[in-house]
Amino acid sequence: MERMSKTQGIIVAIDGPAGSGKSTAARLLAQAEGYAHLNTGAMYRAVAFLALQGAINAEEAPDRVTEIARDMQFEYRIVDDKQRFLIAAKPGKPLNDHTEELFTAALTLTLKPVVNNGDVRAALVAKMQTAARKVLASGARGVVLEGRDIGTVVFPDAFIKFFVHADLDERTRRRADELRARGEPFDVEGLKKQIEYRDKVDESREVGPLRKADDAIDIDSSSLSQDQVLARLREELARRLAAQAG
Ligand code: DC
Repeated sequence: MERMSKTQGIIVAIDGPAGSGKSTAARLLAQAEGYAHLNTGAMYRAVAFLALQGAINAEEAPDRVTEIARDMQFEYRIVDDKQRFLIAAKPGKPLNDHTEELFTAALTLTLKPVVNNGDVRAALVAKMQTAARKVLASGARGVVLEGRDIGTVVFPDAFIKFFVHADLDERTRRRADELRARGEPFDVEGLKKQIEYRDKVDESREVGPLRKADDAIDIDSSSLSQDQVLARLREELARRLAAQAG
């Protein structure tokens, strides 16, 4: 992992479990503040995708998956208000848009041995740190990173940290709404079990588990709209910026 040095610029860390609303909140916050945004979950998904493409079983060949994580090139763009993820397997290879493949239910099922691999995590943490610092060095005022371990591992010195969560029933309802909107079949009990399982995987891994940083601001989004979550984040950020300026 790259050695941590004090980061120049505003790093906003947003962590939380699957379905907590943190991804949307992070995207909207970055948009509202004119900051860059990095969805770090998509980087783990990209590694799982490249492993599948290479017919590599992440459970049986952890070292090959680590190699994939080290070599992978990843770029994130907003096109027509939508997030797009561009990936290349090696440096120098052309980046291709694989956004649709990264978020399928089938790919989600293959994530566990990828996200639990400590060497993969170290490689991706270094990539996240480099990407955020590069974006700040190129003139961005701030960058919002969202994931599970941003405030605890990736940027423990972040300017501000949030932990966004919501109760299980509400997260299940949101996921059901998403699938309904996409016309995908689902059963509510199955969905709930999947979310519970993902929580367990995230919370119980030895390296980079999902955990609220001691200095993170806790946001329970269970009964909040997306606009209300955004308003809370902006309020807290403005307060922190004012405190720094004054
Ligand atoms: O947020 P998401 O569901 O798209 O994340 C995909 C997977 O990556 C999920 O299993 C959690 C994991 N993840 C992680 O371990 N650390 C991060 N910083 C971000 C995501």
